Amino acid sequence: MLPCPTAARVDAIDPFHAMALFRRADALAAEGRPIIQMSVGEPDFTAPPAVVEALNRAVAEGRTRYTSYSGITPLREAISAHYRRVHGLDVPPSRILVTAGASGALQLACALLVGVGDEVLMPDPTYPCNRHFVSAFDGTTRLIPAGSDKRFQLDGDDVRAHWGPRTRGVMLASPSNPTGTTIAPEALQRVLDAVRERRGFLVFDEIYNQLTYGGPTPRSALALGDDVIVINSFSKYFCMTGWRLGWLVLPEALVPLAEKLAMNLFICPPATAQYAALGCFEPESLAIYEQRRQAFAQRRDYVVPALRAMGFDIPTEPDGAFYVYADVSRWGLSGEVFANRLLDEAGVCVVPGMDFGVHERDRWVRFTYATGMERLQEAMQRIASFTAALR
Ligand SMILES: Cc1ncc(COP(=O)(O)O)c(C=O)c1O
Repeated sequence: MLPCPTAARVDAIDPFHAMALFRRADALAAEGRPIIQMSVGEPDFTAPPAVVEALNRAVAEGRTRYTSYSGITPLREAISAHYRRVHGLDVPPSRILVTAGASGALQLACALLVGVGDEVLMPDPTYPCNRHFVSAFDGTTRLIPAGSDKRFQLDGDDVRAHWGPRTRGVMLASPSNPTGTTIAPEALQRVLDAVRERRGFLVFDEIYNQLTYGGPTPRSALALGDDVIVINSFSKYFCMTGWRLGWLVLPEALVPLAEKLAMNLFICPPATAQYAALGCFEPESLAIYEQRRQAFAQRRDYVVPALRAMGFDIPTEPDGAFYVYADVSRWGLSGEVFANRLLDEAGVCVVPGMDFGVHERDRWVRFTYATGMERLQEAMQRIASFTAALR
């Protein structure tokens, strides 16, 4: 029995089903079982030396106090310069709000845009926290089945077909978590056209934008117009998950409103992480990040064919992030049973598709390849023996 009543919205938020698996994986590892983690979505790489040095300098100089609620000016300028360098875009620092991770940016965006009973469209499968950010502000989510034929992304027709009287906007991520697939530029343009016709919002999460393989970095959705609300983070490409730093790019007119929310909800993003993040844009850090991107590309090029050779159906080539979304239905097991048995019998931890939506949720599991090559090779051998025994 709870000591006091809690808000109804808590019931609208699901726990991560994968958490039970992580806990079991940790318990098995504590017993001495050699577990290989292919579940958690975080790079095995850590912050490069220039970032660590910048952190140490900030701490030594006592730059540990509250900063501006929008983030320190040099970091907003560095992010603006990043858009110029990577995408050839002019995004003024005044449109950039630094946040506590992409999670902080997504919460701020939902606080700004989602009212009680408002509906937001998302693809199914999707990054699960997005549904819960919407619920946290008493909105609702309409999940739109997004199959492999559409690269697990939405198109303009989907938006038009599912837009209802309470719909206010669309949330998308490209490359996507859990599928590792990017949205085709034409599809994104059609989604935006449909959103604009309805005077809605498009929140576009580019946290994996620079972790793309086999082609140039996709142009930021900011190239499509100043009205797109873009989310990004230092967690993935910049390998700073635990530092809790991200950013939000807004249309100029929305900035004062978002700042009002940010100053009340968060006061400011973490100060030391902001000073440290300036080190991300040093040339030596950029060179390290590029090497790491190539390492992720090699891992993908190893893992995808290896899984396919074992019989996993990977209908759409993942071209970004560090995820492979694979159909396990040929073995007659749900994703949940498959993931649990894989952990128990082979010591490899993956995430069942049920965490990412409801459409065909039992068919899929998500593999994360943010692990060194040797571990991945060991994992592939174990998975091959496990699946061979299922036949
Ligand atoms: C698509 C997507 N958006 C946002 C996040 C949250 O990232 P952050 O660590 O920046 O809060 C994640 C984390 O896995 C993610 O996959």
